[in-house]
Amino acid sequence: MRIGVLTGGGDCPGLNAVLRAIVRTAENEYGDEVIGFRDAWDGVRNRDTMTLDIESLRGSLPKGGTVLGTRRGSPYDWPEGPSLVSEILGEYAIDALIVIGGNGSLAVANELHRDHGLPIVGVPKTIDNDVEGTDVTFGFHTAVQTATDAIDRLHTTAESHDRVILVEVMGRHTGWIATYAGIAGGAAAILVPERPFDPVEICDLIRRRNSRGRYASIIVVAEGAEPRPGTMEIGPRETDRFGHVRFTGISELLAPEIEHRTGIEVRVVKIGHIQRGGTPTAFDRVLATRYGLAATAAVHDGAFGHMVALRDNEIVRVPLSVPGSRTRTLDTALFDAVALPFFS
Ligand code: F6P
Repeated sequence: MRIGVLTGGGDCPGLNAVLRAIVRTAENEYGDEVIGFRDAWDGVRNRDTMTLDIESLRGSLPKGGTVLGTRRGSPYDWPEGPSLVSEILGEYAIDALIVIGGNGSLAVANELHRDHGLPIVGVPKTIDNDVEGTDVTFGFHTAVQTATDAIDRLHTTAESHDRVILVEVMGRHTGWIATYAGIAGGAAAILVPERPFDPVEICDLIRRRNSRGRYASIIVVAEGAEPRPGTMEIGPRETDRFGHVRFTGISELLAPEIEHRTGIEVRVVKIGHIQRGGTPTAFDRVLATRYGLAATAAVHDGAFGHMVALRDNEIVRVPLSVPGSRTRTLDTALFDAVALPFFS
């Protein structure tokens, strides 16, 4: 078989590990050839390909990012996009396409399969861990570790200066990274989109801590966290050229509110793309490898229109319609049971 592969959306640690596993299984077990499309769907449109084989991916397992490059955007943004994709896959004699992506890329993959019959298998990725249908996406674990390491360091400087530090982490619509890193890093509070916050309550919490001699507080803020309606003005959010809301800056708005209300010095640290880069954790390498093996097997079983997923530690196949059906928001039971009781 000739298998095409692309990586779409924001990068995340573990993408190369998936590519490596696909290529190793494809070559060693099935005698397949694997063609990579560079820069996601742009590589299909521009006929920009690279041969992926065991040799070219040697040493890639611990490397962050993606050797294929990635972009946002979709064939549905181009005139006649889906038929052009179909035509170009035909030109390259591609028997199956593996799309490694988050919610956006997997939704596009679903439509291309459903409406145009393209033979696609999906692999879920994102540091945000917000893909419906899988218990976890690779990249999340690494991002949490990176954010936790940063929080560990911030504790000592916050304590030395008796400051409040707001640590902003990624998570457009979900508080997965904030919650896990906040719990692991012993944050005084965690603000997530799923539980809108009240700045007055945060200030009360800081004052209570102060009255007990806890003059430093680390507050982890998911970039998509929002105040309860009527509690704080945040103004309109910017959008990028794909119309996605650009989430970043909520902590910069919250910091002066806290300073003003409590008189305590506040600093803001945005971990930003550091949490998306660098070497994947062992957990993410293993998960990515399992996904890569399973995706190649799914292609050979003709399980098109499915993505591979992790459920109860088993790799399963889930219809590609599932990830686009909703955003997998935070397990609020975990948040309420484990994170909330510590905020006092
Ligand atoms: O990969 C998902 C994500 O990490 C979001 O949490 C974040 O809002 C977004 O990517 C930022 O991505 P970029 O700066 O590449 O547009």
